[in-house]
Amino acid sequence: MSQTHFGFETVDETEKARRVRGVFDSVASKYDVMNDLMSAGLHRVWKAYTVTVANLREGDRALDIAGGTGDLALAFSKKVGKTGQVVHTDINEAMLRVGRDRLLDAGVVLPTVVCDAEKLPFPDAYFDLVSVAFGLRNMTHKDQALAEMCRVLKPGGKLLVLEFSKVAPPLEKAYDWYSFKVLPQLGKLVAGDADSYRYLAESIRMHPDQDTLKTMMQDAGLDRVEYFNLTAGVAALHVGIKL
Ligand SMILES: C[S@@+](CC[C@H](N)C(=O)[O-])C[C@H]1O[C@@H](n2cnc3c(N)ncnc32)[C@H](O)[C@@H]1O
Repeated sequence: MSQTHFGFETVDETEKARRVRGVFDSVASKYDVMNDLMSAGLHRVWKAYTVTVANLREGDRALDIAGGTGDLALAFSKKVGKTGQVVHTDINEAMLRVGRDRLLDAGVVLPTVVCDAEKLPFPDAYFDLVSVAFGLRNMTHKDQALAEMCRVLKPGGKLLVLEFSKVAPPLEKAYDWYSFKVLPQLGKLVAGDADSYRYLAESIRMHPDQDTLKTMMQDAGLDRVEYFNLTAGVAALHVGIKL
């Protein structure tokens, strides 16, 4: 059995998916409030930037992978209009349920699909845009997931990967203190779960840095890959085009 990382722990590959599911089953109901608290609302700015770079047009087809509580799917649906299509997906049912309810409350009805990014149940060359926000980090075979994202894109289609990344060196110390001291306490207080937020901090440190992810996207078949650091590299938006 091959091994991989779950935060700083080394675990069997099958164990990782189970543990990740446990994290998101546990945090789903408090996910949105925790996102706002942890990032002081910054995740909204990062997502708004992602929607701008997506540059979707009326009639486009978009796939949001690891879509969770639906922030991007909701924003995309406003751009593609009635003639377009947005598919909201995630491997975790609890997260998708929260997302689907939020979308319905906003008057938006979208196909919501439980699926693993590593085995997407969509045809080749179907979508104009594929996005994954803060999801890639949790995947066991990131190379396979990126290859799948590339497969379902039309030629000329765009992949957007929004993810935590490597922060600029002058901020490292303060960011480490915040991540390892404050975040788990906040998680305990608000979501009753310190461990999931400790995993969050650890998984960010284990995630490939900006240039490594760029190379991974190129290896998956994407062209013109570039990235934009957000908030001094706390997050980064990677963009690639399918040839
Ligand atoms: C931090 S949440 C991000 C949710 C949303 N995209 C956002 O930005 O708010 C990460 C999501 O990745 C999902 N995820 C983890 N592994 C996955 C996989 N292999 N395939 C699809 N989704 C996955 C989790 O279930 C979780 O909902």
